Amino acid sequence: MSTITVSEQRCPGCGDDKFAEIANVMDLYRGKEGSLIQVLHRAQEIYGCLPLELQTYIASRMDLPVSEVSGVVTFYSFFSTKPRGKHTIRVCLGTACYVRGGKKIVESLKEKLGVDIGGTTEDGLFTFEVARCIGACGLAPAMMIDGTVYKQVNVNRLDSILAKYRNE
Ligand code: FES
Repeated sequence: MSTITVSEQRCPGCGDDKFAEIANVMDLYRGKEGSLIQVLHRAQEIYGCLPLELQTYIASRMDLPVSEVSGVVTFYSFFSTKPRGKHTIRVCLGTACYVRGGKKIVESLKEKLGVDIGGTTEDGLFTFEVARCIGACGLAPAMMIDGTVYKQVNVNRLDSILAKYRNE
C-alpha cells in the first residue's frame, strides 16, 4: 500500500476530519462485494464531490489501481469530480419539452443563476444541468429540483420555484 497521508490529499476548504470519516467508511466496507461503489457514494456524500486527490486516496486505502476507481467515477453520472450545489436543477430538453419551450427555461435559468449548464452557483446552492426526459412529457416543459418534478413550467414561474429553495 502506498503512503498517502490525509493532509496531503486535502482539497481547499475540506477538512482532515472528512478524510478520517471516509477512512472509517472504507474500513466498514473492507472485503465486501461491491464495496467500491458504496464507498464512493458515501465519500461523495461526506466530501461533496470526488476529485482526483480523493480518488487516489480511496484507491490507496482499498489497494486498488487509481484507474479502476476513476473508471467507476467517470462511468456513473451520479458521481461528480467537482463540488456540487446543495440542490440540483435539471431542465428537461427531451423532444416534448424542447418543442414546448424547454430551451427558454434553460436560457432564463442561466441568467437567473449566473451559471452555464453544468455549473454551480457561487453561493453553492444550485448545480444546473439538463436532462433528456424526466417522465413528464404530457405536461411539458418540465424540470426537476432534487426529487421534485415541476410540470408546465414557464419563465414566469421560475423565480417563485427558486425562492422555495433560497428561503429554506
Ligand atoms: S421530454 Fe421532457 S419529460 Fe419527457
